[in-house]
Amino acid sequence: MKCRKCGAAAALELRRHNAAFCAPDFLDFFRNQVREAIRRHKMFARGERVLVAVSGGKDSLALWDVLLDEGYDTTGLYLDLGIFDYSVESKAKCEAFAARRGATLLVSRVADEVGAPVPVIKQVTRRPPCSGCGLSKRYLMNRVALDHGMDVVATGHNLDDEAATLFGSVMHWQTEALPRQSPALPSTHPKLVRRVKPLYRLSEREAAAYAFLRRIDYIVEECPFAHGATSIAHKEILNRMEEASPGAKHNFLFGFLEKARPVFERAAGVVLQECARCGQVTTGTVCAFCKLADQVKRAAGGAAPER
Ligand code: AMP
Ligand code: FES
Ligand code: ZN
Repeated sequence: MKCRKCGAAAALELRRHNAAFCAPDFLDFFRNQVREAIRRHKMFARGERVLVAVSGGKDSLALWDVLLDEGYDTTGLYLDLGIFDYSVESKAKCEAFAARRGATLLVSRVADEVGAPVPVIKQVTRRPPCSGCGLSKRYLMNRVALDHGMDVVATGHNLDDEAATLFGSVMHWQTEALPRQSPALPSTHPKLVRRVKPLYRLSEREAAAYAFLRRIDYIVEECPFAHGATSIAHKEILNRMEEASPGAKHNFLFGFLEKARPVFERAAGVVLQECARCGQVTTGTVCAFCKLADQVKRAAGGAAPER
């Protein structure tokens, strides 16, 4: 197999693109896909402040690496979920990466903000850990971005993540979730920071290859609570489809973004207002994060404090 660009021996085959690349040309391909994502969705401009949410995994660290090399004004944000060794190790990976690149990393602890770490939130809510965890992550990313005057939050969601989320939403016809599925979510309220996913055009395997070739030290283990999660089952199904028909994931996601999403977006019309307690955006009176924090405090035996 030969590199499509230079004809040297290829290091990686991308069946979806009917192409193969040597290591340097693959890195170029990867960066070009990120540039294309930023350009196409006007994700951010030079001079804007980008908060990169990093989990210590390959995707978000690869993203931060590309954005640093491209000269964007980035700051990392690690959310310490308090999930045993997994959190200790993933935080160490983020800190080591930031130190190596001379970049700034902010750290925010869920236990300080919600009143308990994710494993305790899981017990209190008796819901899958990922629901309280995902809610807290989205909320804290936005609040930290506002507190630090950031223009936009970037996450490392890749093509596989996005296709699996879409598959899950479609399987259950969660039509309210469909307009929110986008590589770039605009700010629809002064207290809601723009959110972007510059890796949405790149697969998980491509992000792993980029991280490997760039010698980025990342946490390989999944979160211990991810075990058996439906999103993993959905990824497996999509991987089997991709195996049989290269490009299936891409067609599924990109077809949705181009043809179906605009229809659901027109139908949505959600009105946002400020939470009566914390002032962050919500569709109700009190936001889901404040309700979660109340629930945790009630379980701990104390009364919910005023915020
Ligand atoms: P996940 O929801 O674990 O698939 O992660 C998707 C994206 O969310 C990652 O690529 C990161 O950008 C961000 N993210 C996940 N976990 C964390 C964390 N603990 N701290 C900061 N960002 C995170
Ligand atoms: Fe949130 Fe695993 S990362 S529950
Ligand atoms: Zn609130």
